[in-house]
Amino acid sequence: MAKKPNKTKALPIHILNGPNLNLLGSREPDIYGKTSLADIEKACRARAKSHGFSILFDQSNKGGELVEMIQRARTAAAAELVNAAAYTHTSVAVLDALKMLTAPVIEVHLSNPARRENFRHTSYVAMGATGTIAGFGLNSYLLAIEAVAALLKDKKA
Ligand code: DQA
Repeated sequence: MAKKPNKTKALPIHILNGPNLNLLGSREPDIYGKTSLADIEKACRARAKSHGFSILFDQSNKGGELVEMIQRARTAAAAELVNAAAYTHTSVAVLDALKMLTAPVIEVHLSNPARRENFRHTSYVAMGATGTIAGFGLNSYLLAIEAVAALLKDKKA
């Protein structure tokens, strides 16, 4: 009898972006550069594809929506990349949601918060993350995809 085709598809990598990141490109370009969020999405999609992954790329200015997106990732994501933007430094709700994930979580920032104002030195997201990549602009996202691809390959092996 012919074998049934294997329909198991790898889950996508979820990439979540928090408040004000929709305005990248025009928002404080001296800090965040001139790359738009759409440019970041395009580059992430290509890099993930080169490792055999698809992505789900999302942005919200609302904390509750970010929590709901993270909750959905519990069963729907191979890994979670999260740039929670300002919520990084304030949101226990985002941290609690991240703690429910069993998939790898990478905290991502375009800038390096450790070099900035004191209030940016606290990260609630870091407490729920596998690791953090910050300070490399668009490349922070691409390096996070590299990290996740390596982690998932190690898991499979
Ligand atoms: C940011 C850093 C945060 O401190 C800030 O609130 C942001 C962007 C970054 O990507 O560098 O909105 O997450």
